[in-house]
Amino acid sequence: MKEFNQKSEKLANKAIAASWNYESNITDHNSRVKNEILKEVSKEKKAMWKELQRFNWKNFKSADLKRQFTIANNLGSTALPDDKFKEFIETTEAMSTIYSKATVCDFNNKTNCELRLEPDLTEAFAKLRDPEALKHYWSAWRDASGKKCRQLYLRYIELKKAEAKANSFDDPVKYWNFDFESDTFETDIMKLWEQLQPFYQQLHGFVRDKLYRKYGENVVSRDGPIPAHLLGNMWGQSWGNINDIVNPFYGRTTLSATQEMLKQGYTPLKMAKLSEDFFKSINLTVMPKEFWERSILEQPKDRDIVCHASAWDLQDGDDVRIKMCTEVNEEELGVMHHEMGHIEYFLQYKGQPHVYREGANSGFHEAIGDTIALNVVTDKHMSKIGLKPAAQRSKEDTINSLLETSLDKIAFLPFGFLIDQYRWDVLRGVTNTENLECAWWKLREKYQGLEPPVDRSEADFDPAAKYHIVSDVPYVRYFVSFVIQFQFYKALCVEAGQYNPSTPDQTPLHECDIYGNTAAGNLLGKMLQMGSSKPWQDAMEVITGQRNMDAGPLMEYFKPLIDWLTEENKKHNVPVGWKPSKRHSCSRKG
Ligand SMILES: *[C@@H]1O[C@H](CO)[C@@H](O)[C@H](O)[C@H]1NC(C)=O
Ligand SMILES: *[C@@H]1O[C@H](CO)[C@@H](O)[C@H](O)[C@H]1NC(C)=O
Ligand SMILES: *[C@@H]1O[C@H](CO)[C@@H](O)[C@H](O)[C@H]1NC(C)=O
Ligand SMILES: *[C@@H]1O[C@H](CO)[C@@H](O)[C@H](O)[C@H]1NC(C)=O
Ligand SMILES: [Zn+2]
Repeated sequence: MKEFNQKSEKLANKAIAASWNYESNITDHNSRVKNEILKEVSKEKKAMWKELQRFNWKNFKSADLKRQFTIANNLGSTALPDDKFKEFIETTEAMSTIYSKATVCDFNNKTNCELRLEPDLTEAFAKLRDPEALKHYWSAWRDASGKKCRQLYLRYIELKKAEAKANSFDDPVKYWNFDFESDTFETDIMKLWEQLQPFYQQLHGFVRDKLYRKYGENVVSRDGPIPAHLLGNMWGQSWGNINDIVNPFYGRTTLSATQEMLKQGYTPLKMAKLSEDFFKSINLTVMPKEFWERSILEQPKDRDIVCHASAWDLQDGDDVRIKMCTEVNEEELGVMHHEMGHIEYFLQYKGQPHVYREGANSGFHEAIGDTIALNVVTDKHMSKIGLKPAAQRSKEDTINSLLETSLDKIAFLPFGFLIDQYRWDVLRGVTNTENLECAWWKLREKYQGLEPPVDRSEADFDPAAKYHIVSDVPYVRYFVSFVIQFQFYKALCVEAGQYNPSTPDQTPLHECDIYGNTAAGNLLGKMLQMGSSKPWQDAMEVITGQRNMDAGPLMEYFKPLIDWLTEENKKHNVPVGWKPSKRHSCSRKG
């Protein structure tokens, strides 16, 4: 097994380096080189896999060896026959390339058709308040990206089913959720969602009411789904950018954190240094020299790259990197912490055998940086680092902060849940391929309470206007992450002696900041160092003392806001929940 681990490490390094070279410099040449290397690596991995089969590992006595073999035995798309594997990488790359290179025309100037998702459209959604302009960008992006991927996606689905079969799974969804190591995973997360849904609906009702007042009932109905283009984000997945419209206490503090950052001359590098400093303060690892030399923190002017922020482990000791087209603002400061959380995990588990150099599950990996960012966005910490004035403690200040946080963390929950619900339904044939767009909007309406700003038909394909759908990245990990990061945060606050669950009024959970607390950092480090060497339930127990996912800590964190929203909505007769949409999303093609 040791030999296997060493060999597979070398192969992983080769494949990941090739992907990095391509994603950080998109050219036809680099694409060909990458695909050649991936094919080679895939062949070698298959040969190694055949050797593994010579062992009777399913009957091994050692639980640890058995676990290593089980993980090693999962080959992913490499398990496909050579011709299908080739088709798989070509299909996913074709979709990713359409997505990365898609451009749309300026709303005011139809001869300028060079606007990109990042930074142009992202910024447009954050700042524009003209519904007609937003509608234009919303539709144009989907025409330029998702719509063009529909045929490719049909092929992709067939190949994903074949991949599950090739890895000896009859149910492609069970295979999809392999790393969550639980037979009840699907019902578990459904239960978590049901626990969270009433809170989401209060927030949804509150936000819809503000948008209705701002835009009028010709744009936003009082009790229907919210049109998806008005929420400050291309997918309506996080709503922090419309805090100014929604939040009655917005502007109580003199400048927003973004304005402060710009005033103080923040750069992407300074944002990265600030994140690193937090990890350092709690006795975790600083970023190695390779990180600073090889990361891409700003969008290069001389070439196309895949801008979607990501963290890379080249599987070669300290060769870890972030690739991110960083903009200087508060939201991106959060993203920087998120990505660095991945890097910290890589560095903490680098001593594990290769098969265990993963998160306890993929949700854990996504949660680490966010857990740190929850500390950073407290008023206490923001004033400590000079991005907000000294913390006030009035009721209004508390609601102001929690509402701002909820526009990202709570608004996201149904989206995090439905992206994979959608793919599971397609993989299982619950959704047939004639109804791909219709099924998408059914879920968007059911869980998020959103509707498209213009009618849709089966000539469209809006799911593929989202990065993770075209690039074959599972998504339920983000839902899991948004729930468990509050479990982690609470556990660390308790460890740091800053939170006592029996007296939440005296030291509210949302005010805790573990900066500089090495006891909390050491507890986190202990869990990170385990990698995937034990089932995630064990890792969860190390840090929280319990073995399950639980939405309780999230609800505890937001308790003052939940009470306030419920009361406000009642007081002003604001409808909660939504009537069916009047838009058409389920018409026939053409
Ligand atoms: C990008 O890749 C091309 C090869 O396709 C190469 O000629 C060029 O130097 C690379 N650019 C950078 C900045 O690495
Ligand atoms: C279009 O031009 C008007 C007038 O100059 C300006 O106010 C508006 O912000 C522009 N809209 C967009 C989407 O650029
Ligand atoms: C419209 O866009 C074109 C192409 O980018 C540019 O040359 C032109 O100056 C723009 N016109 C206006 C009025 O901004
Ligand atoms: C998780 O387990 C704890 C105790 O072990 C229990 O109190 C709690 O209700 C459980 N939560 C969920 C969501 O199952
Ligand atoms: Zn991530």
